[in-house]
Amino acid sequence: MRRKRSLKVLAWLRSWTAGKKSVVVLLTGFVASLVILSLTATTIVYTSTEEFCSTTCHEMTTNVAMEYKGTVHDRNRTGVRATCPDCHIPHSQVPLYIRKMGAVHDLWGHFISHSIDTREKFEAKRQELAERVWTYMKENDSRECRGCHTAAKMDPERQSEKAQARHARAKKERLTCIDCHFAIAHNEPQGGVGPQELEVDKSLISKGAIF
Ligand code: HEC
Ligand code: HEC
Ligand code: HEC
Repeated sequence: MRRKRSLKVLAWLRSWTAGKKSVVVLLTGFVASLVILSLTATTIVYTSTEEFCSTTCHEMTTNVAMEYKGTVHDRNRTGVRATCPDCHIPHSQVPLYIRKMGAVHDLWGHFISHSIDTREKFEAKRQELAERVWTYMKENDSRECRGCHTAAKMDPERQSEKAQARHARAKKERLTCIDCHFAIAHNEPQGGVGPQELEVDKSLISKGAIF
């Protein structure tokens, strides 16, 4: 019985892949791929804007986005800014796609588990969330920061003495930007370890630190 049915299906498929009908199948496939591709591209572009990241869900709006307002990366003398996606979304393709797939986790937290839907829940979880960001940034040698700040092009002469001394130390001790410059866009978590205390595999960095 099952065999008969599968033979029927096969015959039906064959009829659609031969002769004039196959052109219809090819064209439909082509149009469907175009639609799917443009929907995917649009989603990636739209979900990588400051507006989306800071206004779409109250978990961000009432916590990190509010705190970011007025920090040096939001408002400064020259008006050159770093917004949420600049620091949190990888700028190159493969890491970008991986990060976007990870957003399923964020959707789960928002719609299903409601993991940080009040300020109290958010504060209780902040250390864990921050550690996740710090670990990611340490493992990739602060790649997103370096998308704008080119260490080799920083002019020490124009930096404060404190900055010169610490940057020289950073080079010697192989520290990365986030080791020292954390809590620059959001409130600092209270009572846990800082990025310098987090252990990461430093060999990842010498491998190009893609992920
Ligand atoms: C989109 C570009 C961009 C990205 C990404 C970026 N920054 Fe910046 N950053 C700037 C600009 C522009 C300024 C200077 C603002 C001004 O004072 O005019 C700045 C300033 C700073 C300063 C100086 C602050 C001060 O008070 O003078 C530090 C420290 C800094 N950034 C660290 C970081 C770190 C750490 C990261 C990664 C987590 C990062 N930045 C990501 C563009 C960026
Ligand atoms: C060992 C700790 C340390 C590391 C690692 C580090 N910095 Fe700094 N940085 C400092 C200190 C301390 C200052 C001075 C802050 C001050 O004067 O209040 C500073 C100042 C700065 C400034 C402002 C300079 C000025 O004089 O206006 C920028 C921009 C900056 N750092 C970017 C970076 C970037 C980008 C990285 C990674 C490539 C980095 N730093 C790594 C400690 C560090
Ligand atoms: C200049 C870089 C930078 C910008 C701009 C930035 N962040 Fe962050 N963000 C960080 C860093 C670094 C951490 C890790 C914790 C810390 O050091 O504050 C972090 C942590 C977070 C966390 C985890 C909770 C926490 O406080 O640790 C969330 C959520 C977040 N950011 C969302 C956003 C959103 C939304 C925006 C835009 C409104 C934004 N970030 C803008 C650098 C940035």
